[in-house]
Amino acid sequence: MEIGQLFNVSGKVAVVTGGSRGIGEMISAGFLANGVKVYITARKEEPLVKKAEELSNKYNGVCIPIACDLSSSLGIDYFVKIIHEREKAIDFLINNAGAAWGEPYDKFSEVGWDKVMDLNVKSLFFLTQKLTEILKVRASGDDPSRVINIGSIDGLNVPAFETYSYSTSKAAVHHLTRVMAAKLVKENILVNAIAPGPYPSQMLGSAVDHDYSETARKNPRKRVGMPEDIAGLVIFLCSQAGSYVVGETIASDGGIVKTAGHNLG
Ligand SMILES: NC(=O)c1ccc[n+]([C@@H]2O[C@H](COP(=O)([O-])OP(=O)(O)OC[C@H]3O[C@@H](n4cnc5c(N)ncnc54)[C@H](OP(=O)(O)O)[C@@H]3O)[C@@H](O)[C@H]2O)c1
Repeated sequence: MEIGQLFNVSGKVAVVTGGSRGIGEMISAGFLANGVKVYITARKEEPLVKKAEELSNKYNGVCIPIACDLSSSLGIDYFVKIIHEREKAIDFLINNAGAAWGEPYDKFSEVGWDKVMDLNVKSLFFLTQKLTEILKVRASGDDPSRVINIGSIDGLNVPAFETYSYSTSKAAVHHLTRVMAAKLVKENILVNAIAPGPYPSQMLGSAVDHDYSETARKNPRKRVGMPEDIAGLVIFLCSQAGSYVVGETIASDGGIVKTAGHNLG
């Protein structure tokens, strides 16, 4: 019952896709600060390698960069091959890499549809499928492995921006989480999703000109998300404390989803 045991994740091995910046970096930092060895991925090699060095030094941990494009089967196969060469088992897979696309309804393009659906939904499924064997290796009833899919509150609410494929892809991520959870719980792999609200990042920043003051003002908690918010939730889900949570989508949004409509009348 002690907190050090309940929330302990040290000695585990994690993969965090899209760990070079934003929410993936926040999750990786939380893991590294608590003794987890972390593999991070992104397409752009230079910032990825720099980030891995920076995080390893800051937290006195082991952060390993693997540059790859997860939007194609080729990229997924390459990444899976490297993981198998380096590790006999992994404990946590955080499917965080994602893309967004905004365009007016009447001009919304096929490329903006396919790019987002391919990375956010298709790649998430196939990467998890191809890492299932290595996630099974150490998984047990007492100490299950974990998959956490990063969805979005845009997959729960109707979004403010014209992001038709993005919000649809995130609703798919939440449902796929339930479907995969039902299958993989039998293998002692627990699948859950987190639906973040606004967190400062390149993705959100490009939509609000990197000025988060209005976003914070409109939030029920009067702020945007902080690294501790998302890292703490991931650590909870990956620790003994979270080991009875299966197939859930947990919003981390300052209350946006649950208070929607409260001020309408
Ligand atoms: N920030 C928010 O407010 C917010 C809210 C709700 C949900 N989310 C979700 O949280 C996740 C992270 O978002 P973020 O805001 O942190 O975004 P971000 O700052 O744009 O970071 C995205 C990360 O994914 C990597 N990535 C993108 N395309 C990739 C590909 N094809 N293959 C491999 N890696 C790729 C990026 O690196 P490269 O560009 O070098 O590949 C980067 O490391 C996404 O799933 C997003 O939908 C974010």
